[in-house]
Amino acid sequence: MTARAKVAGKTPTTIDNANVTVVGGAGHVGIPLVLALAEAGLRVNVNDLNRQSLETLKSGRLPFIEYGAEDALTRALASGRLVFTDTPAQISRSGPVIITIGTPVDEFLNPVRQVVQDCIDELLPSLADGQLVVMRSTVFPGTTDWLAGYLREKGRKLQVAFCPERVVQGYGLKELRAMPQIVSGATPDAEQEAARLFGQIAPEVVTVTPLEAEFAKLFANAYRYIEFAATNEFYLIAQSAGIDYGRVLAAMKHNYPRAASIPRPGFAAGPCLVKDTMQLSAFARNQFGLGHAALLINEGLVLHVIDNLRRRFDLGNMTVGLLGMAFKAEIDDVRASLSYKFKKALSGHARAVLTTDPFVTSDPEIRPLDEVVAGSDILILCTPHAAYAKADLRGKPVVDVWGHLSGANVIR
Ligand SMILES: NC(=O)c1ccc[n+]([C@@H]2O[C@H](COP(=O)([O-])OP(=O)(O)OC[C@H]3O[C@@H](n4cnc5c(N)ncnc54)[C@H](O)[C@@H]3O)[C@@H](O)[C@H]2O)c1
Repeated sequence: MTARAKVAGKTPTTIDNANVTVVGGAGHVGIPLVLALAEAGLRVNVNDLNRQSLETLKSGRLPFIEYGAEDALTRALASGRLVFTDTPAQISRSGPVIITIGTPVDEFLNPVRQVVQDCIDELLPSLADGQLVVMRSTVFPGTTDWLAGYLREKGRKLQVAFCPERVVQGYGLKELRAMPQIVSGATPDAEQEAARLFGQIAPEVVTVTPLEAEFAKLFANAYRYIEFAATNEFYLIAQSAGIDYGRVLAAMKHNYPRAASIPRPGFAAGPCLVKDTMQLSAFARNQFGLGHAALLINEGLVLHVIDNLRRRFDLGNMTVGLLGMAFKAEIDDVRASLSYKFKKALSGHARAVLTTDPFVTSDPEIRPLDEVVAGSDILILCTPHAAYAKADLRGKPVVDVWGHLSGANVIR
């Protein structure tokens, strides 16, 4: 018996009585949003093509780490507020439909609008005129107005809004409760309805035009990516001067608010930062100099570390252990993780490469930490998971760009 069925006297949510549909509702952006909407008292249709993730959710578990979400999922299931559907034909025809599907760039780093078009084309027969379609996925500038025009040309009277997701992965539910929502609509009606919807889950709503909202999302991520590149380049310069950048950074930041936001150096990647920087570059006809420089620095840092190791050690006769395969600390997501760039690049130079991560469950080659430490001649801290700061690395030399570890064996 499901948690939902146990609640006597509650009418379970169906696609007919749902207040809102989230397409891509079992994804990283979709799940926290679904739960935030359910917490606000809405009946939510969780629509996703990934049946396995839907089954996991139905059983009260999460398909990936999302801090604080398990309790919210239990409550949402118990209250009967969720209905799960797995085809575009099964979406609610009454409330707004929020789209949170992945929006990738292609192998030439150009945005792929076709993904949005295909999704809309599939949903169209199930959408009722007058319904609000909210794009939540990150999109290329102009996509919202294009979508409104596309639907008009097809003779459909749908409202279109763009309300970008800005949460940091793993902490979405917490941030949704605390952060303002940027809301835009292709028409005043669309903007108003979207503002009403997001006003139910957010402390504040900021309204702008669709193009402004699209740029706000891309600028924010590109800026973050450039910030990481700036600190990474400072790290490289400090290293070439033979000094410890961590000490310089600490001195710069000490009681000095203007330097407080400078991030520590590290391997900056993941499914959003590079992609969004490249979408902006595509819009700027590839004239986004800072964005391209950031890409060179952040991606190049991996190769720089490997070159340094090759100069100092006989890597061809050594096994290298990679600590952390997730793209950032304390999560299990390996999408676009630079740890895999390390693994690939090192496979041509080292005798063997071993990998470990306390969170990642999707990679069968990952081994327990103890085994990797014991079997490696040298270690690289790829992801600064908190547990590594206290781990027994048996005095093995360990490369730590992040400034996360201490000890005589640490190579900065
Ligand atoms: N991950 C983040 O922290 C984050 C933060 C802000 C914005 N974004 C943006 O949000 C969007 C989604 O990212 P994500 O990380 O959640 O991706 P994801 O791959 O984790 O989730 C997307 C979900 O959509 C589903 N899906 C794909 N096509 C579908 C379709 N036609 N119908 C129904 N379901 C479909 C997939 O099965 C998947 O569950 C992207 O545009 C991303 O750039 C992500």
